[in-house]
Amino acid sequence: MSRQIPVGSADELPPGQRKLVFVDGRSVVLFNIDGALCAVENSCPHNGASLAGGQLEGHLLRCPAHGLRFDVTTGCMPGKGGLSLATFPIRNVAGKLELTVGDAPAGPCHAQLS
Ligand code: FES
Repeated sequence: MSRQIPVGSADELPPGQRKLVFVDGRSVVLFNIDGALCAVENSCPHNGASLAGGQLEGHLLRCPAHGLRFDVTTGCMPGKGGLSLATFPIRNVAGKLELTVGDAPAGPCHAQLS
């Protein structure tokens, strides 16, 4: 069952910015990429490094530890296969940011590709 959790004001996350929040014991990084909101778990699926300080190239976030890249909109690595970063739906509700967390795991990356 999913829940919506307030994670601050939209004013705190203008375009080009990121913000680290803690939700249900998890560390989550919020991004505003040209007005599009994204949220990913702050733990690299490769070896658990913090992604909060990773370099962002468009939608691709580079892990500072070993350089793997993840699309923050999908959690997937570029190309086919690879590791999957946990993502969370996030939306702006009347100026307040609302993160959705749930029990269901995200689907595997590239599951729609043959
Ligand atoms: S811990 Fe992120 S690439 Fe190794």
